[in-house]
Parts: sequence; C-alpha cells; structure tokens
Amino acid sequence: MQLPGVTPALVLRGQLLLLPILLLLGPQTSQGLTIMPPGPELVLNLSSTFVLTCLGSAPVVWERLSQVPQQKVSRTQEGTFSSMLTLANVTGGDTGEYFCTYNSSLGREPSERKRLYIFVPDPSMGFLPMEPEDLFIFLTEITETTIPCRVTDPQLVVTLHEKKEDIPLPIPYDHQRGFSGTFEDKTYICRTTIGEREVDSDAYYVYSLQGESPLWLDFQQSFLHQCLSECSADCGSPG
Ligand SMILES: *[C@@H]1O[C@H](CO)[C@@H](O)[C@H](O)[C@H]1NC(C)=O
Ligand SMILES: *[C@@H]1O[C@H](CO)[C@@H](O)[C@H](O)[C@H]1NC(C)=O
Ligand SMILES: *[C@@H]1O[C@H](CO)[C@@H](O)[C@H](O)[C@H]1NC(C)=O
Repeated sequence: MQLPGVTPALVLRGQLLLLPILLLLGPQTSQGLTIMPPGPELVLNLSSTFVLTCLGSAPVVWERLSQVPQQKVSRTQEGTFSSMLTLANVTGGDTGEYFCTYNSSLGREPSERKRLYIFVPDPSMGFLPMEPEDLFIFLTEITETTIPCRVTDPQLVVTLHEKKEDIPLPIPYDHQRGFSGTFEDKTYICRTTIGEREVDSDAYYVYSLQGESPLWLDFQQSFLHQCLSECSADCGSPG
C-alpha cells in the first residue's frame, strides 16, 4: 500500500517499525485477555505483597467478590490496556477467586473472563468466613450441590461429616470450591486439622424442597430468619 505524496522509502520504514509492534500485540489480540501470573492457581506467603497484571485490547479490570477493588489501569504506547491489582500484606482472607475482564462500564460485552485462584495459607484462619445465608442450601430440582467450605491452604486435608458423626463421607473435595455431590436433608460440617488443632466449619443445612411450590421462596426466607435467630448459639464461628 502506498500513500500519495509519501516516498516508498518512508512507507517501507513505517512498515518495518510497525512489524515488531504487531508481533508483540499479535498473541494478545488473538488470545484476548492475558493475566500474569497465568494461574490457574497461586499460593502466596502470608503478609507478602503481590501484583496481579491483566492485559487486553480494551480497558480491563480485576474483580474480586463481584466488586472492583482499587487498581492501577494504564495503556501502553502500543495500545495494550493493562490493569495492576496490588495485594498488599496478604492474609488468609485474600484467599479466593480473582477475575480479569473487560471493563463492562464501557459497553463492551464482558464475554471474556480470566480466572485466577489465590491461596494465602493462614494458620490463624480455619475455614473462610461465610455469609449466614450461604449456610442454608435449598435444593429444588437439582440434587447435585456444593457445600462451599474452603480453607486457605491447598495442602490441608478436609473431610465432610454429618453433624456429630466422626466418619468422613466419601465425597470429593475441591480446595477452590468445596464438597460437590448429592446430599440428604441433613446438617453437615467440614473438618480439617491445622497443626495439632482440629477445626470444624460452620454447619451447613441442606433442605430439598419438593414439587413446584410458589411459596418456597417465602418458606426459605422465614425458615432462614427462624434459624438464624435460633441457631446462632449452635452454629459457632469458624476457627
Ligand atoms: C514464600 O516464603 C518461602 C520461605 O520463606 C520462600 O522460599 C518462597 O520463595 C516464598 N514464596 C513466594 C511466592 O514469595
Ligand atoms: C500486615 O497485617 C498485619 C495483620 O493484619 C498487621 O499486624 C501488620 O501491621 C501489617 N503490616 C504492614 C506492613 O502493613
Ligand atoms: C471502567 O470504566 C468506567 C467508565 O469509563 C470508569 O469510570 C472506571 O473507572 C473503569 N474501571 C476501572 C477499574 O478502570
């Protein structure tokens, strides 16, 4: 391609200059988002500081727990957008999923998302804290579910028990998600050993709601309220 009024030599030089840039951009544009470290999982030392970087062809953001934490966004001269999320003085509470995605505020469909799971082994923390409503698992049609008890250290052995039973249930554990399988209407706890200390999770209550009840949402709400007031002494806190 030759532009009018531009000598071939200049055009050629422009193309040559462009080439390395295109090569640099090439892998990113074809693969979309790039995160560093690439994941899928990372173990950080307690109290350390770590920077997550995400690169993309449009403005990118890091998300954590459906929120957008403070991060440093910039654009390189080559037109690549980046976002750096600094995790400072990390604790067990920083354990969990981190996502990089295109900034949806800018109207771009957030079709692409890169996930990184971070563990920060923290002996002072047993199971990650849960919202009270997450301790009640209501099943309607689907019988497969996940009891989402998670620990901060991927090396820990975690077992699932019916409440007040010592024998572990033969259900596989995923350190990033919890126990997934088919459960009965019972109360379950997760258990691990940190050093010499045996730690139990909060109790998880599984209820299956049969049939098509238009009232089950109401039921769930009132049940939850009743239980939250009654069970608060019983449930205890993790760790
Ligand atoms: C964590 O700490 C250990 C020992 O203190 C060190 O060898 C290791 O490199 C550290 N890991 C990271 C990711 O900083
Ligand atoms: C890191 O966090 C710990 C516990 O939250 C705190 O005691 C300590 O002062 C923090 N250190 C720095 C350098 O912020
Ligand atoms: C996403 O885009 C909106 C709109 O331009 C902007 O206000 C916001 O700061 C961006 N988010 C990040 C994390 O850059």
